[in-house]
Amino acid sequence: MSAKSEKESILLVDDSAPTLEVLERNLVAEGYHVLTASDVAGAVAVLDSTTVDLVITDLKMPEVSGMDLVRHVRDNFPDTGVMMITGYPSIEGAVQAIKDGAEEYLSKPFTDEELSAAVRRAFGNLHSRRQRAADVTAAPSMPHGLLGESEAMREVFRAIGKAASTSATVLITGESGTGKELAARAVHYGSARSSAPFVPVNCGGIPDGLLESELFGHVKGAFTGASESRAGLFHAADGGTIFFDEVGETSASMQVKLLRVLEDKEISMVGSNRLRKVDVRILAATNRDLLVLVKKGLFRKDLFYRLNVITIALPPLRERGDDVMLLATHFARRFAAEMGRSPVQFSGRALDVLRSYDWPGNVRELENVIQRLILMTDSDTIDTPDLPQLMRFSAMRQTGLDRTLAQVEQEYVSNVLASVGGNKTRAAQILGIDRKTLRQKLRRVSGSESAGEHSSET
Ligand SMILES: Nc1ncnc2c1ncn2[C@@H]1O[C@H](COP(=O)(O)OP(=O)(O)OP(=O)(O)O)[C@@H](O)[C@H]1O
Ligand SMILES: [Mg+2]
Repeated sequence: MSAKSEKESILLVDDSAPTLEVLERNLVAEGYHVLTASDVAGAVAVLDSTTVDLVITDLKMPEVSGMDLVRHVRDNFPDTGVMMITGYPSIEGAVQAIKDGAEEYLSKPFTDEELSAAVRRAFGNLHSRRQRAADVTAAPSMPHGLLGESEAMREVFRAIGKAASTSATVLITGESGTGKELAARAVHYGSARSSAPFVPVNCGGIPDGLLESELFGHVKGAFTGASESRAGLFHAADGGTIFFDEVGETSASMQVKLLRVLEDKEISMVGSNRLRKVDVRILAATNRDLLVLVKKGLFRKDLFYRLNVITIALPPLRERGDDVMLLATHFARRFAAEMGRSPVQFSGRALDVLRSYDWPGNVRELENVIQRLILMTDSDTIDTPDLPQLMRFSAMRQTGLDRTLAQVEQEYVSNVLASVGGNKTRAAQILGIDRKTLRQKLRRVSGSESAGEHSSET
């Protein structure tokens, strides 16, 4: 009973019963206490009767829109977070939602991971807001949840600090899952703009035609179906920060438009010639090498230089040394707590495997692996057999522990022979065998090589 009341509570509001059911199941599995309502009136009743930490509401609902609920929560429950779910056709609703105080929006369709990441971010924002309210003099913690003690990450923290103190455009680079979005948030929330909106835009995920009207808005009659004027994300981000994620995916025509905004700090709505000044700071991220794209003629050089005023380069996890341990322990603690379990530890051998694995998916992969481990294992200590097969295998390869005896022997024989300049008599002496045996072993080496060549031809 007491464990339950310590869980964070989420009120889900959606008029579609199947959607409610799926979302509820996912969030309960993540350890949240979930309440549901099928319309705004029901939601208001729940809010009046119990304390809710986060409201997640659909935008489009038959009677009263989700937007009214956002306003209701903002006006009456300052300690409650709000997240809005929108569909593509109504994404402009996100603009209003953010203006009205939703801290997060999620556009359909979204994956389970995107949902859980957005919920965690919403709670992260909520916690820091409560923390600030509770103790204004609190020492600054790690900027927005970015953990790391390695020299490589200290360098990143310095770059974030520098970027936060200016309004310059920042290009954030790094492989997938290295924390680019977290870094972008850290820059925004560490800057003088922190009380204005942070608006992420996934340039890779929005069709080109839509992207323009979404960013800049459109006037009535700008295109078929534009029955009224709508503001864009740039308007929503006024005074704050806009974050172009996957900027390397933008089309040539979009690149021209972005360049113009960066140069003139002016936008015009689709279908209008009137220019309007905007005060929006631009951050961009990419997991691609933009310079390579520039060379291939796929990315404008002038835009690259405009974006790349300050660079924050996130190192891959495999170059962060013991940060892997720090993060694994952090995620293990977090997921165990979310699932209401006692703390979980790693055996020394399991830690060795985690450390030697090369983490192609970086922190996101580590986070997912740990979450799965905590879900799948009951014991309080995670040992090597609990780890995913693939990871154990690749750790073995790194330590050379996946070779057969015959392979090891062949390699050793070749190395010894090479070390004596090909002198077979000397090599046989060192190996403690006679020359005939050595010749046989060497035949096997060259025999297996030519067999290898042969099979690769067929
Ligand atoms: N240093 C870190 N400390 C704690 N959590 C981190 C850190 N870096 C990343 N994460 C977590 O890892 C996940 C991936 O991070 P994020 O989405 O910022 O990566 P990304 O670089 O934007 O990835 P992609 O290129 O795939 O979009 C998130 O859940 C984030 O919270
Ligand atoms: Mg990202």
